[in-house]
Amino acid sequence: MKHFTSVLDVADINVLVEKAIAYKVKPLSDNTLGNGKRIGLLFMNPSMRTRISTQIAARNLGMEVIVFNIDKDGWKLELEDEAIMNSNTVEHIKDAAPVLGAYFDMLGVRTFPSLQNKEEDYAEVLLGQLIQYAGIPIVSLESATLHPLQSLADIITITEQHKEKRKPKVVLTWAPHIKPLPQCVANSFAQWVNAWGKADFVITHPKGYELYDTYTNGATIEYNQQTALQDADFVYVKNWSSVTDYGKVLCEDNSWMLTPEHLSISNHAKLMHCLPLRRNVELSSSVLDSKSSIITEQASNRVCAAQAVLAEILKHNQAC
Ligand code: CP
Repeated sequence: MKHFTSVLDVADINVLVEKAIAYKVKPLSDNTLGNGKRIGLLFMNPSMRTRISTQIAARNLGMEVIVFNIDKDGWKLELEDEAIMNSNTVEHIKDAAPVLGAYFDMLGVRTFPSLQNKEEDYAEVLLGQLIQYAGIPIVSLESATLHPLQSLADIITITEQHKEKRKPKVVLTWAPHIKPLPQCVANSFAQWVNAWGKADFVITHPKGYELYDTYTNGATIEYNQQTALQDADFVYVKNWSSVTDYGKVLCEDNSWMLTPEHLSISNHAKLMHCLPLRRNVELSSSVLDSKSSIITEQASNRVCAAQAVLAEILKHNQAC
């Protein structure tokens, strides 16, 4: 693996999942693999899970880690190719990226969509320019449109928790929220589950919240949440804003908020959410505090997921 920005960078999802589970059992089994290697983690917005789990993962592999809050502590970056920089941007990505490439052996980067300009957000300009100009492996710590480390942790969690031989029924359900959120977690989860192919996958949301079929192809789209939840083994709850009416909140129907009553028609479904979440807006406290919830296990798996990815990249570079 050279870079990690989506499931398309993964040769075999099941092999990566097995490696991650092996690291979960023995976190220090490869603790010299990254000796002498330094990873920079660049954040353009807040993060708890991604920031901490990736640091733990890198240290488990013997890497040195430096976290840089580029939004607060860095110069404002210009991304436009031929920009005349006479406004508020201070440093061009073409100049900054090679410097980061000189300081680090690998870069993790978290970006965020504007939710104003769909074409720009979905072009993933910053990620693409870092790959082009930094000259070192780039790991997405969540981009404008995808969150692959989260999705890998999600697949690990479903693999661990599903004890039966049959395929699990996995439902991704839209949930209400007070403000517009990115589509990246939903896009990415859909892309990974479809690429994985080991689940009966249903996505449910109000009309107007359709995701690009690049990600959802392979899933059943069901507008009736109750129908979707019938016999579900796993229910992944997530808000996202509209793609078609880009970045807008179109639905304020609180009946989409997940409660124990919603789960009563499921197959004792396990409840998933990437976190952070707003209690009693997206999901009721009663369902979150019930035995159905596996959100802590899911977040815990962010460490072994990140470790498997960083290890794959380190091994690829050793072989080059
Ligand atoms: N799920 C997730 O990425 O959490 P953070 O934003 O806290 O990193």
